[in-house]
Amino acid sequence: MNAPALPAETLRTALAGLLDGLPPRQASRAVERLIASYRGATPTNAPILRDRADAAAYAAYRMPATFEAVRSALEAFADAVPGWAPGGHLDLGGGTGAAAWAVTATWDGERPVTVLDWAEPALALGREIAAANPALRNVQWQRSRIGAALTLESTDLVTVSYVLNELTAPDRTALVDAAAAAARAVVIVEPGTPDGYARVIEARDRLIAAGFRIAAPCPHSADCPIVPGTDWCHFSARVSRSSLHRQVKGGSLPYEDEKFSYVAAARFPVEPAPARVVRKPQIRKGQVLLDLCETEPSLSRATVTKRHGDLYKAARDADWGDAWPPAP
Ligand SMILES: C[S@@+](CC[C@H](N)C(=O)[O-])C[C@H]1O[C@@H](n2cnc3c(N)ncnc32)[C@H](O)[C@@H]1O
Repeated sequence: MNAPALPAETLRTALAGLLDGLPPRQASRAVERLIASYRGATPTNAPILRDRADAAAYAAYRMPATFEAVRSALEAFADAVPGWAPGGHLDLGGGTGAAAWAVTATWDGERPVTVLDWAEPALALGREIAAANPALRNVQWQRSRIGAALTLESTDLVTVSYVLNELTAPDRTALVDAAAAAARAVVIVEPGTPDGYARVIEARDRLIAAGFRIAAPCPHSADCPIVPGTDWCHFSARVSRSSLHRQVKGGSLPYEDEKFSYVAAARFPVEPAPARVVRKPQIRKGQVLLDLCETEPSLSRATVTKRHGDLYKAARDADWGDAWPPAP
């Protein structure tokens, strides 16, 4: 059921042309202004993406990373709901459409898609970029404000990526409740920081209270075993760096790792992983140490040695965020 990686390459090409014609200094300045806005006191009363230059800077600079983070979360979700594919998708606070692209990279075919955001320049640019993706030909780009007054039509899948951070606490609650009421499946992605994780856990609790079951990353729908304040559950997605990235951030690495926290939940039966690797595995001579979140629920460290045969080989290939043990 998984779709080809094609949308990732198409997106990269579509974004590469975005800043063509814009002097590099101007592009860097737009990105720096954006970074400063995001570092500043959010939530805001008005959109941060105010014009085309802001939206283009966001798309060129952040969209590849948010796309990869959402794609990673959706892949884990898809593994937990084999045979299911969304018949419709609503992306709340969708901006330039990263999650809409990620859905097309996860499941084949076309479906009705709505991207909702209050920033018209982001929606306009999202529509332009989406012209490169045949599966996004009929997206509705809807300008609406997320808040207590928001009402949503029923759909199969709601995504909320990198948005909770920009909302007040009451608007966050209203958003998660509205998503839970409208959708059969909800996937929420936030930056992989202690605060991002805290917002994900808050949303996770609300989804469970609304009758959802957790499909990923947790192997269970019980309380998270992490003692608040001691750690935070997050994962990492590799992102190719564009020349704009290198220009703004310096450095020569061709990639960077986007850290994210997420929760994927559904109203229908799910098959979560038996356990999940929650840190980068440590490969030692003749053994691999895996930090796992398990069904119990509990956090534990498994030591897999050569004596474990095929499981040892699998452990050497295991990645942070993978299900454990891997599906046969
Ligand atoms: C960091 S961007 C994330 C965009 C996109 N979801 C992604 O993952 O790339 C946050 C988005 O949330 C939107 N947003 C923030 N507050 C909003 C509100 N109250 N109503 C509607 N959209 C909002 C912003 O306009 C922006 O497009």
